[in-house]
Amino acid sequence: MKVILASDHGGINISKEIASLLTEMNIEFEDIGCNCEDSVDYPDYAIPAAERVASGEFDKGILICGTGIGMSISANKVKGIRAALVHDVFSAKATREHNDTNMITMGERVIGSGLAREIVKTWLETDFLAGRHATRIGKVSDYENR
Ligand code: RB5
Repeated sequence: MKVILASDHGGINISKEIASLLTEMNIEFEDIGCNCEDSVDYPDYAIPAAERVASGEFDKGILICGTGIGMSISANKVKGIRAALVHDVFSAKATREHNDTNMITMGERVIGSGLAREIVKTWLETDFLAGRHATRIGKVSDYENR
């Protein structure tokens, strides 16, 4: 599995934690920044990351900003991306099982790094259940491709 990781200035601390987690889990990843405290614009990180997941270069993407909302809105504009804003472990599992999400977003001003690690670990380790859920995702894709 190959993962792309990105954050704006509002998400750098959790981004560092997630980079450590991915290393501990022996998961190949690329961190595209920002790794900075200066104010940057979240679409400049979310959209390139999402494009690289949509193209198949990466299997999954993890995006962090202050709230997770800007990253989620931006990533979901890219065709083929199903990005979920997640701040609890239950949703992390459910959004893989039911929504086959290929990106996850979180907000560093909302949750702490310990919970963020649990969320990402759960999300990465949970498989899509397919079946009726695939039918529902197909309806979203049909609309996207109309
Ligand atoms: C940056 O101040 C903040 O707006 C950004 O990190 C994010 O929360 C946007 O949704």
